[in-house]
Amino acid sequence: MLTVAVLISGAGSNLRALLEAASAPDYPARIIAVGADRDAAGFAHAEEFGIPTFLVPFRQFESREAWGRELGVQLAAWKPDLVVLSGMMRLLPAELVERWAPNIINTHPAYLPEFPGAHGVRDAIAAGVAQTGASVIVVDHGVDSGPILAQERVPVLPGDDEAALHERIKPVERRLLIDVVRRIASGDIDLAAASAEASS
Ligand code: GAR
Repeated sequence: MLTVAVLISGAGSNLRALLEAASAPDYPARIIAVGADRDAAGFAHAEEFGIPTFLVPFRQFESREAWGRELGVQLAAWKPDLVVLSGMMRLLPAELVERWAPNIINTHPAYLPEFPGAHGVRDAIAAGVAQTGASVIVVDHGVDSGPILAQERVPVLPGDDEAALHERIKPVERRLLIDVVRRIASGDIDLAAASAEASS
């Protein structure tokens, strides 16, 4: 059974979908802890499912590195096989990425490498594209630049604003995330191989 720690910053709707999937007896992964950089609304989902939470408030540390060190200590205490960033809106310091690589993945509401960064949905609307998408990637030292594990197109419809488009992307993200975690757990996706291939 693959053990997973999930890091969030916000509503945690993707976290909730993963919690629901992981509740099925035949799903090969279990969420063992949920952490956040702020008092995230999504903690409520973890609590509902009886999953322990940990909070490492970014603003209480003097630097990103100091915050990352404490986050690393908290994560390590759970010894997860995999770390999932699911709406974690902070860039992790290099040292933390190094510690978990390649067993650290991220969801992103765009068809990477298009529209990386904190405003993937807003940027797609501003660019006037007819389609964007959702991606699940391995975290590397860049901003949403790691190897792509799964992605799918989502159309941008006339009249879409950021919220409407994001709401249509999120179900796709959830499906991809649940599938990717299942495939990592079953050995169908080899994160070390995916990372080595991307850097060769
Ligand atoms: C998700 O769409 C996730 O991909 C995005 O934040 C949302 C979190 O929603 N993350 C990023 O944009 C990271 N660059 P949720 O808190 O409801 O799961």
